[in-house]
Amino acid sequence: MYVILLGLPGAGKGTQAARLSAATALAHITTGELFRDNIREGTALGEKAKPFVEGGLLVPDEITIGMLLDRVKQPDASAGFMLDGFPRNLEQARALDEALSREGKQIDEALYIKVSTEELVRRLAGRWSCPQCGAVYHEQSRPPMKPGVCDNCGAALYQREDDRPEVVRTRLEVNQKNLQPLLDYYDGRGKLREVDGERDPETISKDLGRLIGIGC
Ligand code: AP5
Ligand code: MG
Ligand code: ZN
Repeated sequence: MYVILLGLPGAGKGTQAARLSAATALAHITTGELFRDNIREGTALGEKAKPFVEGGLLVPDEITIGMLLDRVKQPDASAGFMLDGFPRNLEQARALDEALSREGKQIDEALYIKVSTEELVRRLAGRWSCPQCGAVYHEQSRPPMKPGVCDNCGAALYQREDDRPEVVRTRLEVNQKNLQPLLDYYDGRGKLREVDGERDPETISKDLGRLIGIGC
């Protein structure tokens, strides 16, 4: 099964992808995390992506599309994947469809997690992330058991560079501009499903799981 999670920054794509991929054999692939890993490791790709990621802008398609298409060829994605943060524009959506169709595959579902801007700003301001396992926490709604420490792996949590308020504003603007054409693209192909993302994470996972035919 090939699933896409759509939603603005802070909508809960990472939170839900982690829950759903734990309940399935689907690989959780997040372009944002791939970029942050490359930046941390100082790779050539990371150097190119850094100013865009830290400034809240989209990394150019010529970097992003190749990186994602290489990642989905890895063995862990052979049984299917759940994409978190890709595609973010029509060029990326078309490139993905073309690559899949060359292998006789197609996207099964595009799941849109809808959340209001005020709630997104609140979520991003209180988020703490794990650099090692990618787990996400929130100061109020999902605090770690021990402040500043990841429950899963014990690593020290950090606040993302692009969660600073001025960068959050840019990220929201950039993503809002690109979202509607993407929703229309998948709706026109009969793949789009929308869920209300302003409920507790467990309820949202149940809804999403039902839409892709799994219990979680
Ligand atoms: P990326 O890392 O994907 O960032 P994003 O899209 O801005 O999304 P976030 O990770 O901020 O939010 P999320 O939806 O995953 O929410 P989360 O689950 O963490 O991309 C980063 C950057 O990389 C981009 O800006 C761009 O530069 C580049 N990039 C990536 N992909 C690209 C592409 N395809 N093309 C070009 N450039 C690309 O939740 C947020 C917070 O809310 C957490 O604290 C969480 O605990 C809390 N929370 C989650 N769900 C709930 C709930 N139901 N109720 C209450 N709180 C909740
Ligand atoms: Mg995320
Ligand atoms: Zn961790």
